[in-house]
Amino acid sequence: MSKALDGVRILDFTHVQSGPTCTQLLAWFGADVIKVERPGVGDATRGQLRDIPDVDSLYFTMLNHNKRSVTLNSKSDKGKEILTKLIEECDVMVENFAPGALDRMGFPWERIQEINPKMIYASVKGFGPGPYADCKVYENVAQCAGGSASTTGMLGEVPMVTGAQIGDSGTGLHLAFGIVTALYHREQSGRGQRVECAMQDGVLNLCRVKLRDQQRLAHGPLNEYSQFGEGIPFGEATPRAGNDSGGGQPGRILKCKDWETDPDAYTYFITQAAVWKNVCDVIGKPEWKEDPDYATPNARLPRLGEVFGAIEDWTMTKTKFEVLEICNPLNIPVGPILSMKEIAGDMSLRETGAIVEVDHPERGKYLTVGNPVKLSDSPSDVERSPLLGEHTDEVMRDVVGLSDEEIAAAREDGAI
Ligand code: COA
Repeated sequence: MSKALDGVRILDFTHVQSGPTCTQLLAWFGADVIKVERPGVGDATRGQLRDIPDVDSLYFTMLNHNKRSVTLNSKSDKGKEILTKLIEECDVMVENFAPGALDRMGFPWERIQEINPKMIYASVKGFGPGPYADCKVYENVAQCAGGSASTTGMLGEVPMVTGAQIGDSGTGLHLAFGIVTALYHREQSGRGQRVECAMQDGVLNLCRVKLRDQQRLAHGPLNEYSQFGEGIPFGEATPRAGNDSGGGQPGRILKCKDWETDPDAYTYFITQAAVWKNVCDVIGKPEWKEDPDYATPNARLPRLGEVFGAIEDWTMTKTKFEVLEICNPLNIPVGPILSMKEIAGDMSLRETGAIVEVDHPERGKYLTVGNPVKLSDSPSDVERSPLLGEHTDEVMRDVVGLSDEEIAAAREDGAI
């Protein structure tokens, strides 16, 4: 079986997390991703958060699978010549440098188009055009600017960033979608185009329910928020809602057995209206099934604290997995709070390929995430990340078309 993106060649000028997430996805699907790195330096993440001295960090390896690495000083004359040839030979160029870096290098979009009119040129930046367009941006800045931090955390406490990398990896996902869309469009138009994704916009796209609530606030309090039942007035902006469910079915995180000693002994519990009677039976409150104060979702809204308190009295007598085993057959949606230790040790995730063990020549075996998207006709295997410059010679020879002598001269020059 062929891979879905076989034959697509990507010039990968990305670094850190957002851009590499995007190109790794494309590489998983079979694109030939040529990662360009500065000679002797490489992507800064190779050396960040190292767990083993002098070995590429997990930060780097887990974001750069299935890629080839070439070193190239794209600011030197020879380097620019080689880069021009690479632009001619590739279908897609991806970068997430600080604003203007590619222009300063002498490769603005207009020049790239001139070199290769079929090129799809994709960029991640922190912000779109406007007052902040020049800012350098990292994950948490994007979470703050995209509306996630102000709406995450407990009511009355400081704004919170989430552990999920919605600014970096989230924007990388958006960009990959844009690239594949542009590749599809190129099939008909024969032309490349520019694909841009701002991290602020990517985070906001994922926070749309909070923008929804901002507009609902103009028409009255947000009844499904816990603070409504607690009689706390709403302000002018969508508030932080703790662990309240973002949808119309109230839900919270509740303690389970051993919560005093196990920091992850919790379950998410959703009081879905359709199975309210099952909830009442499970928690030993059958009288709530017909009681007008509890029988309907609207009646329960001002009493959610009491309702979840009663459910928690029950969940605290069970482990989070027992809660799942009991509630699942009754169609009550619950979710054990899984620690990373539990996820790493979950063999069913290994079987599905959600977690993959990879062997690396310098670090040995380690775990990484697999491609979460499965295509029925196109396999997607996870291969180890490249060492710095591991594929420079083969790419210079096979893609750029340099002879062995020219490769040696370029190396002597410091261009590769
Ligand atoms: N050859 C020569 N020069 C190279 C090179 C190469 N192969 N690769 C990178 N460089 C140069 C760049 O041209 C730039 O030079 P310049 O400042 O003279 O223009 C320089 O290296 C540094 O690049 P920069 O992107 O500014 O890195 P940084 O470490 O200062 O900033 C970020 C890092 C992430 C803050 C910044 O790149 C950024 O804001 N990116 C966009 C948003 C983003 O993706 N953020 C999330 C990252 S996960």
